[in-house]
Amino acid sequence: MVEAADIEASVDRLVGVMAGKRGILLPLLHALQEEFGHIPAHAVPIIAEALNLSRAEVHGVLSFYHDFRDRPAARHVVKLCRAESCQARGGSAIEAALAERLGVTMGGESVDGQVALEPIYCLGLCAIGPNALVDDRPMARIDAAAVDRIAAEVAA
Ligand code: FES
Repeated sequence: MVEAADIEASVDRLVGVMAGKRGILLPLLHALQEEFGHIPAHAVPIIAEALNLSRAEVHGVLSFYHDFRDRPAARHVVKLCRAESCQARGGSAIEAALAERLGVTMGGESVDGQVALEPIYCLGLCAIGPNALVDDRPMARIDAAAVDRIAAEVAA
């Protein structure tokens, strides 16, 4: 768990670096997420006080942008393309197979934090779908055998 003191120190340092600039909330949030891997709930009042904002304002930005996480990312992240071409090439069946093999639902992560399954919308590889990113590595033409490989990879 990230300690409040560590967050305070980083917020102080980053606000100092960004001092005088306008609209520093978003850059500050990105920098904190890069540093800690997520932005825990107890960081919200610290950020709000440092920037003279309300907690609701900080929370509103955090909840609006889906890139911000309130807990550490899963160890492995499988992003399955849910856009039209991949759907037409059997993406729904692949999603069901991945969900079953990985023990997660789309948009969720396993209880042990080992793997998350997330939707993504077009990787620009439409002609060779269904496609996915497995820990940021592109995989194309995903079929049942590829689902087995992905499941074995994330279990390692
Ligand atoms: S629709 Fe899946 S890569 Fe374009």
